[in-house]
Amino acid sequence: MISTSKIHADDEKIHDFTIAVDRERVEDLKNRVKLGKQRLQKQLEDTDFEFGFSANYLKNLTEAWLKYDWKQHETEIEGLLIHFVRTNYPSKNNEKKIPILLIHGYPSSFWDFYKVIPILANPGRFGFDFGSKGSIVFDVVVPSIPGFGFSEKPQKKGFGFIECARSYAKLMSRLGHKKFFVFGSGELGVETATALTLLAPEAVQGLQVVNPWISPFQDAQIFVKSLISSFVPSLYLGENEKPVRIADYLDKFSYFWTMKSRPDSLSVAVNDSPLGLAAWLLDRFALGVKENFAKHPQGWLQNSFTVDELLTEVHLYWFTETFPHAARFFKNSYGHPLFEVTIRAPVNTSTAIITLPASSISSPRHLLDHCFRNIVRYTVGNKEGDFAPLRDHRLVAEEIFAFVEEIVG
Ligand SMILES: *[C@@H]1O[C@H](CO)[C@@H](O)[C@H](O)[C@H]1NC(C)=O
Ligand SMILES: *[C@@H]1O[C@H](CO)[C@@H](O)[C@H](O)[C@H]1NC(C)=O
Repeated sequence: MISTSKIHADDEKIHDFTIAVDRERVEDLKNRVKLGKQRLQKQLEDTDFEFGFSANYLKNLTEAWLKYDWKQHETEIEGLLIHFVRTNYPSKNNEKKIPILLIHGYPSSFWDFYKVIPILANPGRFGFDFGSKGSIVFDVVVPSIPGFGFSEKPQKKGFGFIECARSYAKLMSRLGHKKFFVFGSGELGVETATALTLLAPEAVQGLQVVNPWISPFQDAQIFVKSLISSFVPSLYLGENEKPVRIADYLDKFSYFWTMKSRPDSLSVAVNDSPLGLAAWLLDRFALGVKENFAKHPQGWLQNSFTVDELLTEVHLYWFTETFPHAARFFKNSYGHPLFEVTIRAPVNTSTAIITLPASSISSPRHLLDHCFRNIVRYTVGNKEGDFAPLRDHRLVAEEIFAFVEEIVG
C-alpha cells in the first residue's frame, strides 16, 4: 500500500510525508500491463484515434511503460509534495510574498503544476526575470481534490466542486492566508476556482483561469449567440478565437456523459486494468490538445507531452486509485443541485483569463463576459488546446506574475 501521513496545514507535520508504493504493487502493475498487452485488439486499418484511443499507440506506450521507473519518479513527486505545501523560500527584504492556490481538475492531478510551482516560488533561480519590479514571489498551495492523488477519499455521497471549493477556502484560512489569489485550470478545476471566488469573495484577491467554459445550453441568448457565431464568426469573435462547436458537446464529450451518469459501473473496469485506465485518461488528454488529434497516429500526444509525463499521470491514478473518485466527483459536480446557479452567477472579482485556441472546452470572450463581469486581463495563447500548465508552463507563469503585479501593484 501507499503509506502517507496526513498533510496537515502546518509546516512541521509535512515533513512526515512519504510515498512508498510496495515493490509488490509495482510488480503487480507491470504484470497487468504485460497481460493487458496480450489482449489488445488489432487496430482497424486506416484509422488513428477515430474509434477512441489507438491500439497501435497504446501498444507502443506499454513498451515504454514496462521500462518506466516508478521509484525514480516517486522521489520527485514526494519532493514536489513537500515543496509546495511548505512555504518555499525565505523572501528577501524587498520581496512581497503572495499566497496563491493552484487548482487542478480532471483528468489530471497536482502533478500538472510540477513545472510551474518552482518558478512561482523562486523565479530568479529559474532564470525568470519578470520585468523591473521583480518583487513578487509566491507562497504556493496546491491541494489535491479530495479523492484524487494522496488526499483522503470521500466516503459519503455528494462531494463535488462546490464542496471542494469550500474545503479549499478553509484550507487557506487555516494556513493563515486571509487574502490570496486563485488559479484554476482544467475541467472542473476552473469551476472549482470560480465557485471558491463566489463563496469567499472577500478572501480572493484575483481569479485566474485557463480555458473557462460557458455551456452554450446555459440560456437562450447564449445558445443563439453560439449558433450565430459558428456561422458568422466575424460577428462576435476576436482574432484567433474559434466559435463554440455545438456538435462537440454531443459527440466528443461522450466520456463526460458516461462519467456523469454511471461512474461506479465504468470505474470497475477502468480501475481494474492499467491499459484501460491509460486509454480512458489519455484519450481525454488527446481530446484536449488539438482539434484534429484523431487523424494523428499518436493523437498528437507526444507532440504535447513527454511519455514520462503521460505515464506519471497514469501511475498516480493507478497507485492511488483515483479514477473511481474522479468519476464520482463528476457526477457530484455536474449533477449538483446548485450547479446551474453556481455557473451562472456573476463573478465580480478581478479576473484574468488565458484562452488557448482549439481547446476542447474554452468559450470565446463574448460568452465569457456573461459570467465574468470584471475581466482585467485576457490573453489568447499561441499553443492550441488544454493542459497549459504542462504544455506551456512558461506562459502560465508569466501570466500569473503579470496579473498579480497588476492587482497588487
Ligand atoms: C510504434 O512504434 C513503432 C516502432 O518504433 C513505430 O514504427 C510506429 O510508428 C509507432 N506507432 C505509433 C502510433 O506511435
Ligand atoms: C456581483 O455583483 C452583482 C451586481 O452588482 C450582485 O448582484 C452580486 O451579488 C455580486 N456577487 C457577489 C458574489 O458579490
